Amino acid sequence: MRAVVAAHRDERGALLPILHAIQDELGCVDPAVVPVVAEELNVSRAEVHGVLSFYHDFRSEPAGRTTVRICRAEACQSVGAEALVAHARDRLGVSLGETAFDRSVSLDQVFCLGNCALGPSVQVDGRLYGRVDAERLDALVDEAVTR
Ligand code: FES
Repeated sequence: MRAVVAAHRDERGALLPILHAIQDELGCVDPAVVPVVAEELNVSRAEVHGVLSFYHDFRSEPAGRTTVRICRAEACQSVGAEALVAHARDRLGVSLGETAFDRSVSLDQVFCLGNCALGPSVQVDGRLYGRVDAERLDALVDEAVTR
């Protein structure tokens, strides 16, 4: 982790790329790294924590084998994203930001996937899908978890 910090320390606004690099390396940003990063960059722990909590992409524990991200921004909300989120919670048995106990799947929210005209938009394992309803979401999840 200190090597990751050293590699990005001189970048402008180094905190964000450092946190991304840590997550890329470790699969998550464990809360234990907060004081180390703060010390290395000479910023407060609150500042590091603030960045981690502001950006929904950061995880405090590794994601499941499949990651489902549902867009909850305005355009997708207007065409049923909230109902889709409710369905996903029931179907997967996890809340937003959580990973299933068996680590099979993580459910996340995202605020715009750049696919606003084709909402509700969903990303499954990094692949973007538009006009997703409950039935299609089930099919996408089934396909992903059996891959
Ligand atoms: S609002 Fe959902 S993709 Fe933009």
